[in-house]
Amino acid sequence: MSIHILTLDNPREDIAYIDELMSLVERARADNASPYMYPNGRDFYAGNLAGATINILAIKEDSLVAYAALRKMSPWPEYLGLPNVDPQSCALMLLNLVDPEYRGRGIGQQLASARITAARAHGFKHLFATVHPDNIASNQVLERQGFHRVAQQPMFSERLLRNLMRLDLTD
Ligand SMILES: CC(C)(COP(=O)(O)OP(=O)(O)OC[C@H]1O[C@@H](n2cnc3c(N)ncnc32)[C@H](O)[C@@H]1OP(=O)(O)O)[C@@H](O)C(=O)NCCC(=O)NCCS
Repeated sequence: MSIHILTLDNPREDIAYIDELMSLVERARADNASPYMYPNGRDFYAGNLAGATINILAIKEDSLVAYAALRKMSPWPEYLGLPNVDPQSCALMLLNLVDPEYRGRGIGQQLASARITAARAHGFKHLFATVHPDNIASNQVLERQGFHRVAQQPMFSERLLRNLMRLDLTD
């Protein structure tokens, strides 16, 4: 299986992926192995493609099979408490979404790795991610990439239980 990992870099044109991205989100939502996804809508994903986040796609034969995002951590979100690092040097990995038919083939790992590379390229020194404690695949992906858990607490207005994971990027 030939999968192409693409880091988007043109927000004016990247919005063209919105329909494919929403189709991927719907396929994932329809799958009962995706119980930990935050229920974001089309506006959120359109905002990401328009430049709110760095966006990474996995493409197979012109079809979108996975999506992941990374954004700067400043301002520091209230739900994470007070930081012991400069928020300007921090980025948040959010969303790692693999088409249910393509899971377990290393694509989630590749998207995590591509985000770490992108974070380094943008000069970030600390990476964070939040993940539900029972999301085994997602925790495994993060731990394999070197993240470690620094807190576990309810987050967001929905008070979802999350592990806060951290990776310090050394030179
Ligand atoms: C989390 C997710 C992105 C992982 O993507 P993936 O392509 O299936 O992951 P990979 O194949 O790269 O790796 C998954 C890892 O988890 C492990 N894993 C998966 N399910 C597991 C289970 N039930 N028990 C133990 N390990 C498991 C795999 O063995 C693999 O570990 P390894 O790299 O050490 O061998 C994917 O499952 C997904 O899209 N889930 C739904 C959305 C979601 O919850 N996203 C995260 C929060 S936004």
